[in-house]
Formats: sequence, structure tokens, C-alpha cells
Amino acid sequence: MDATDKKRAAARAALEFIQPGTKLGVGTGSTVNCLIEVLPEVRDRIDCVVSSSRASTRLLEEHGFEVRTLNETGDIDLYIDGADESNKHLQLIKGGGGALTREKVLAEAARRFICIIDDSKLVGMLGSFPLPIEVLPMAQELVARRILKMRGHAIWREGFVTDNGNHILDVHNLRIANPIELEARINRIPGVVAVGLFAQRPADILLIAGDNGVREIRT
Ligand code: 5RP
Repeated sequence: MDATDKKRAAARAALEFIQPGTKLGVGTGSTVNCLIEVLPEVRDRIDCVVSSSRASTRLLEEHGFEVRTLNETGDIDLYIDGADESNKHLQLIKGGGGALTREKVLAEAARRFICIIDDSKLVGMLGSFPLPIEVLPMAQELVARRILKMRGHAIWREGFVTDNGNHILDVHNLRIANPIELEARINRIPGVVAVGLFAQRPADILLIAGDNGVREIRT
């Protein structure tokens, strides 16, 4: 099974969690794109859809879904999204696609958050994948200097502007031994819009696709 097959398998496994009348939040990335491809199969169980990015909205609309805003729907029943890394506590690094802020909002609004990954993304300690931080453009250098004091090396994702008009810093060389503490610490730096650590609000269910099928971890 290659990585794409695994992404498809994880995405398909998530369909079972969509109950009749679900208000559904949809994340961003190549794994979620696999989910959107099969989502029409359960269209009759979906009450409404909210999206975490322009890219996902476009793909959802191409598949015939009308995308609503979170302000219209209120809290949602279920949020399904991928991740760049997960530990066994279902704490995540997200934001490789740059949609971390809206993803965080949808995760917070969701009664249940299901994360779909292939098995290469399950790690012992978070931090091999560079940690994305969305920052106000005028605060980019300030945030980078503060991150350096935490022994992280922040590199601007050049030429990339988020859906919110901001920049992304990708932080290398962080050993994330305490994700909840680091998330709070980075959030306190003025100019940080959101950090791609999902530790205070981890996933509730992790679906991990491997060569022998999809297995599940719950918090
Ligand atoms: C986007 C994300 C994605 O969920 C994460 O980058 C994983 O993407 P992919 O499914 O393409 O590996 O957080 O901001």
C-alpha cells in the first residue's frame, strides 16, 4: 500500500462516523481531499458542511456541497481533518497546508474531532515536522526572535499567504516534550495568530491507516 492508498483508506474509515443529521466540519490537505472525493456517498446523512480553507471549499463545491460559515451553523457535531504528526495522546502538529488557524477554530467548535492519518505520521515525540505558526506579517521578525529564545529556528514560508492574509513561520529543531505548555507559551507571543500544536484540544479519535488496514486510538 502506498501513502495515497493509506490516505484513501483512512478517509473512507471516517465515513462511518457521519451519523444522520451531522453538521460536519471539513479540514484541509491531501488526506482530506480523499475524504471529499467519497463524501457524496453519505450526502443524505449530512445536514450542513463547514470548511477550514478556500481550497477545501472549492473542492466541496465541485462535489455539489453548499458550504456554510461557522457563524451560520453554530457548533458542529463532527470535525474531520488530517495532521502532519500525532503522538499517542492524539496531540497533533498541523498546518503543513497553512490552514491551521481555521482548523483550530473548527476543532474547538466540534463535539467530536476525528483525525485521519497514514501510519508514517504517528510519532513518539512531536517536533520532527517543522511546527507551523501563523503570524501577522508585521510581527514576523519579532516572533522569529522570541522563538529563537526557545531554541527553535523559525523559517518564513516564503511566498505563502494564508487565507487570512497572514504569514507562516515553520519552526525547526524543537523537541516538544510538553505540547500543552509549549502551545500556551507560543500563543502568548504578541503577533501570533495561531500555532499548529493541537494539544489543549487534541483529536478525540485517531484513524491510522497502515498496510494491514485502519486502526483506531481514542483519548
Ligand atoms: C493543513 C493541515 C493538514 O491536515 C496537514 O498538513 C496534513 O496534510 P496532508 O493530508 O496533505 O498530509 O494541517 O493545514
